[in-house]
Amino acid sequence: MMLFKPNLEDIEIKLLLEGIYQYYGYDFRNYAVSSLKRRIHSFIRLEGLENISALQEKLLHDRTCLERFLLSLTVNVTSMFRDPSFYLAFRKQVVPLLRTYPFIRIWHAGCSTGEEVYSMAILLQEENLYHRCRIYATDTNEKVLQNAKSGIFPLKMMQEYTQLYLRAGGKQSFSEYYTAAYDHAIFRASLRENVIFAQHNLATDSSFNEFNVIFCRNVLIYFNQVLQKRVHTLFHNSLCSFGILGLGKQESLRFTSYEQYYEEIAKGEKLYRRLN
Ligand SMILES: C[S@@+](CC[C@H](N)C(=O)[O-])C[C@H]1O[C@@H](n2cnc3c(N)ncnc32)[C@H](O)[C@@H]1O
Repeated sequence: MMLFKPNLEDIEIKLLLEGIYQYYGYDFRNYAVSSLKRRIHSFIRLEGLENISALQEKLLHDRTCLERFLLSLTVNVTSMFRDPSFYLAFRKQVVPLLRTYPFIRIWHAGCSTGEEVYSMAILLQEENLYHRCRIYATDTNEKVLQNAKSGIFPLKMMQEYTQLYLRAGGKQSFSEYYTAAYDHAIFRASLRENVIFAQHNLATDSSFNEFNVIFCRNVLIYFNQVLQKRVHTLFHNSLCSFGILGLGKQESLRFTSYEQYYEEIAKGEKLYRRLN
């Protein structure tokens, strides 16, 4: 007699993710289940399908459906100067360290539509460090990277971004960084002069350089423990000694096996420095 009856939906999700991985190579097997479930259900409703098994059948036989599915699966919410106190702490605590380097490599992993990258470029320009920097902006999602490359954001967001920029220690008038055209703000091309946008998947790809700073904010919350550990190993191997790791507000190194290899440099801001 079977004492434990597995949930059919959990089995369907496992099979779905395994099928996508085996057939297309996209690996969502170690994403956190609760957020994944919500997104799968909303996609099923949108496509007018009966259940997860029907979705699996459609995805494996229709690549266009897979492309729509990939877009719906990841949460791409972002903002310029998100959590301004984080950027303020970066300005105060990290910028003086960066000044000691002749050349600075920065990696934004999971950069979404790029608002975080433009925020960093603005901050570095204001600190007169940008000319010494190379910023690598990566995400698994090709579509958001295209937006990031364009540097065009909705004009209606600029009022809110101006406030966040000021709270992040901004030194100029924020409107100097963009030109308004109809309902869009087109950011200065000089802000992406030293930026390389590229596709990189934290679940499957390896390290591609050594960095002085890695930002991976609001990405790890969507991963389970196994994938979080993989990514922390990747970051630890990709950071130079005393390199800086910036995580999101709801993320932390506490209770991970990497906690001992870093020191917190700004209390509560999720800014860590790799120990030697
Ligand atoms: C909520 S956004 C965070 C954006 C930005 N870092 C911020 O904090 O505002 C999460 C991003 O992680 C990306 N992402 C999800 N899984 C990923 C993976 N396996 N590898 C790289 N990026 C991934 C998503 O495409 C999305 O753009």
